[in-house]
Amino acid sequence: MKHNMNLNDVLIKYDEYQKAARKILKPSCNVCKICNGLACAGRNTNSLEFGAKGNNAGFINVCKALADIRIEMDVIHENYEPDTSIELFGHQFDLPVFASPIGKILTDYTFDSKFFNNNSMYAEALIKGAYEAGGMAWLGDNAEEGYFEGQIASIPETGGVGVPTIKPWANREEFWKRVKLSQDAGAMAIATDLDSIGLGYQYSVQVGAKNEGVCSRDVEELKELVEAVDIPVVIKGVMSVKTAVKVAKTNAYGIVISNHGGNVIENSLAPCDMVEEIRNALGDSIKIFVDGGVRSGEDVFKLLALGADAVGIGRPYAVSVYGGGQDGAYIYTQKIYWELINIMRLANCRTLEDITRDKVVVLNKNRI
Ligand SMILES: Cc1cc2nc3c(=O)[nH]c(=O)nc-3n(C[C@H](O)[C@H](O)[C@H](O)COP(=O)(O)O)c2cc1C
Repeated sequence: MKHNMNLNDVLIKYDEYQKAARKILKPSCNVCKICNGLACAGRNTNSLEFGAKGNNAGFINVCKALADIRIEMDVIHENYEPDTSIELFGHQFDLPVFASPIGKILTDYTFDSKFFNNNSMYAEALIKGAYEAGGMAWLGDNAEEGYFEGQIASIPETGGVGVPTIKPWANREEFWKRVKLSQDAGAMAIATDLDSIGLGYQYSVQVGAKNEGVCSRDVEELKELVEAVDIPVVIKGVMSVKTAVKVAKTNAYGIVISNHGGNVIENSLAPCDMVEEIRNALGDSIKIFVDGGVRSGEDVFKLLALGADAVGIGRPYAVSVYGGGQDGAYIYTQKIYWELINIMRLANCRTLEDITRDKVVVLNKNRI
């Protein structure tokens, strides 16, 4: 992949796209220099903006918890270029980072962007920009007619790199239709965000009605899903050892430890605080992904050290695409890539395997 820009040039472009996004997103998101949920707290009583649910605690506390993890440096070592590459879903990536699924773009949000004016163009910019920089995009879902199709339309152009994240629709026909669409698009994997049952106000007006309503799944049904599809299945929205152990029984490829960016519950634990415990409970048998509050290569490093295989980033990718289109996603991925390289060198890690638990110190361990 092309990492032909140095970090300074990447940062200049990044800043330019941030400024452009600020002009567009101002009604919903200030595009703060530090995206930590403080400025958007209390703006909404639901998740219809880039903020989070209610008082934003589910967003703010996650960022605070991540900041309380510190990295130990070790700068005397042989000179080398750290290797951030990883194999996932049978594909090779330059970095263990993905754009988390963000639905509702250009349905609830109608902001202008010079790069796109519909959902599928937005998704195309995200998918291709992340892919071009050696990363990948996961795609969101929505009840609106044609939304899901638009999200995944560009996946064939990246040879399947993209993870459609399907809501657990109460209407199983609707759910399976999306599974088939994903397979037909050649997607390398699918995910389902089971925690979106917490978004009931949005989808569950008429549970069971066509294309309306999300509902929970039991272990048996998830097992059937994993058996029925010939691509890896990931369960998103796992926030306890209890749930993680249940997922392990389904033979799913992986889990995403996530609190949906604080959108489903105000008083959740922080995903970063769950990683070590869940990894210890599951061992190496299953991939562990995590998202929530990740804003830099250093944040990625912290989560890998605690036991994650790869890390998702939500809002900042959406902001980057609004401000810079495909190049926005490309530049943002490169920014994270260079930051990860930098911290690996400072902490003496040649490869991702060298990012071990002893490289980080978790302050205030009594949080959980
Ligand atoms: C506006 C918005 C829309 C989202 N839509 C989806 C979605 O459709 N599917 C999903 O699995 N997660 C969705 N999420 C959650 C993200 O995938 C991710 O878990 C979260 O944003 C990570 O936190 P971060 O934004 O702090 O990086 C959404 C989050 C936001 C803020």
